[in-house]
Amino acid sequence: MQEVQIGDLPLYNQDDDASQASSVKWLKAEIAASQGLLFVTPEYNRSIPGVLKNAIDNGSRPYGQSAWAGKPAGVIGISIGAIGTAVAQQHLRTILAYLDVPTLGQPEAFIQAKDGLFEADGSIGATSRKFLQGWMDRYVAWIKQHAA
Ligand SMILES: Cc1cc2nc3c(=O)[nH]c(=O)nc-3n(C[C@H](O)[C@H](O)[C@H](O)COP(=O)(O)O)c2cc1C
Repeated sequence: MQEVQIGDLPLYNQDDDASQASSVKWLKAEIAASQGLLFVTPEYNRSIPGVLKNAIDNGSRPYGQSAWAGKPAGVIGISIGAIGTAVAQQHLRTILAYLDVPTLGQPEAFIQAKDGLFEADGSIGATSRKFLQGWMDRYVAWIKQHAA
C-alpha cells in the first residue's frame, strides 16, 4: 500500500491541462504504476470532501489521458455519523463509474468512529477486526482478479 498525497494539488483548472503541475504529474504517475486503488473517505456534508474530488478531477485530465480508467478500486469510509459515510461513498461510486473505474460492490463497509473501534496502539479493536479483515480479503481478491 502506498498513500498518495492529494493535499498539495492545485485547484483543477482546465486552462492548465497543457502544462500540468508537477504534483499532478506525480499523482498520475503513481496511479498509472499502481495495481489498484483504495479510496478511504470521510463524509463532508453528505458527499466526498472537495479535496478528494479535486484530486480525482486533476487525475482525469487532459481529456483522453485519464490516469483512472480501468484501475480496479475499493471504496471504504469512516465518520462519526451513524450512516458511516454511506452517502459519500455512493457519490464516489457515481464519479468512479463515469471514469471507468470498476469498484468492488460487496461487501460494503460503512464504519462509524466510536469507542472501541481502535485499540490504544491504533490497531483495530476485537469487535470490528473480523469484519474489516473480511472486507480487506475481498478487496485483495478483487484487485488480483483484475490483474489476471
Ligand atoms: C465540513 C465537514 C462536514 C462533515 N459532514 C459530515 C456528513 O455529512 N456526514 C458525516 O457522517 N460526517 C460528517 N463530518 C464528519 C467527518 O466525516 C469526519 O468524521 C470528521 O471530519 C473527523 O475525521 P478525522 O478524524 O479524519 O478528522 C463532517 C466533517 C466536516 C469537517
